[in-house]
Amino acid sequence: MNQVAFLKYENGGKRMLNNQSPLDLIWPNANCTLTPYEIFTSKEIFELEQEKIFRGPVWNYLGFEAEIPKHGDFITCWVGTTPIVVSRNEDKSISAFVNRCAHRGAQVVRDVRGSAKFHTCVYHQWMYNTEGDLESVSLHRGIKTKEGFKGGYPKDFDKRHHCLQKMRVDTHSGMIFGTFSEETIPLIDYLGPVVAERIKFITRDGDINIGGYHRHTIKCNWKMMAENSRDMYHAPQLHHVFQHFGVLTNEDTGSVETFDKGQVQITGYAKRTEKGDAISKSSVELKDPRITRWQDDRDGMTLSVSNVFPNGLLTIVNNNLSMRQLRPKGPDRLELFYTWFSYKDDDEEMTEMRRFQRNAFGPSGLVAAEDALVFEMIQASIQAGSVSDDQQALLMMGGTGTESTDYYATEASIRGFYKQYIDLMGFEVAKPKVAAE
Ligand code: FES
Ligand SMILES: [Fe+2]
Repeated sequence: MNQVAFLKYENGGKRMLNNQSPLDLIWPNANCTLTPYEIFTSKEIFELEQEKIFRGPVWNYLGFEAEIPKHGDFITCWVGTTPIVVSRNEDKSISAFVNRCAHRGAQVVRDVRGSAKFHTCVYHQWMYNTEGDLESVSLHRGIKTKEGFKGGYPKDFDKRHHCLQKMRVDTHSGMIFGTFSEETIPLIDYLGPVVAERIKFITRDGDINIGGYHRHTIKCNWKMMAENSRDMYHAPQLHHVFQHFGVLTNEDTGSVETFDKGQVQITGYAKRTEKGDAISKSSVELKDPRITRWQDDRDGMTLSVSNVFPNGLLTIVNNNLSMRQLRPKGPDRLELFYTWFSYKDDDEEMTEMRRFQRNAFGPSGLVAAEDALVFEMIQASIQAGSVSDDQQALLMMGGTGTESTDYYATEASIRGFYKQYIDLMGFEVAKPKVAAE
């Protein structure tokens, strides 16, 4: 019999090291001030996340209604590692389905986005409509010969049983969400009142123009981005452009509002001149200050970050407006997909300012590159260790709770994210250590 060794957590959590499975992981504590590094590296945990989270009882962000205004318009995206097509139907409703042929699994829609009333699989020409229903199959009756048709499908072959796998779809203020689970609660309840209101406010109830896209692949686990977007206080520490040029400094005010489903909204208010330039104490000057300029179109709010668990991230920084989709590609690979948008009544100057400020984000963005660098440093650093290192990340900024705060120097919302995470993943939580007698 194998000798069984135990990995001990400080407060009494433990799990077997011999014959272990990462899925036997015992979470170090219930308030989530500790997170085991293993969740960023384990392939088994990554696979379980696909099943329990992305295909679980959550609403995944898919795209904007403004991207598919007309019948046949479609976009492609990802829900976890599952390829998805989102398309507009004739009756204006929206469908979302898995981009994998019901015949033998080929990718059906190969354009990233476009317009088509029917989608035909390149392999054997199965054809689907915008709802993902199978319309026709080639050689249905087989090959025509002198003796009649030979081959083909049996008489009882029913096309209705071979549609593409569909998601439940709902929308809020022009934003499209999908879920694979029948158990997911209504979208409006899932978003919670404050995030629902913030989406409505920032998208002007969906009355937007799509401004373009960025795609950024980072060598890190997807949860590093989920953590980062729930942690505003890293911004003035890591992003010196924020601190030096007054975009958000340690002295500025902000708040964090959290919800039980891991959604969170973070708001910052940086001090500005009347013109909208950031107030900087730095002696260094930007050659082109447009990157830090701001024109108030949101009641004085200079920064807002709203997360929709697990994959949606609505961000405004200055006059940048974007929605991001987190697309996990593996335990150590994340694709971050940005959809930039603008308001319909923007004048030329504002349109240009928004476009210019996108230089702060995306794969070569001067702010986003710093986040990506840190994520890759963390990933490399923890992958270089091993489970037996018994190492965990610490999340104690702002205490141990997950409640909303009127300040932003807190990791409360990351703790909230992990509470939701362990609940969905079904990890056991270590019992608090009983004091030694
Ligand atoms: S795999 Fe699509 S038609 Fe055969
Ligand atoms: Fe950042």
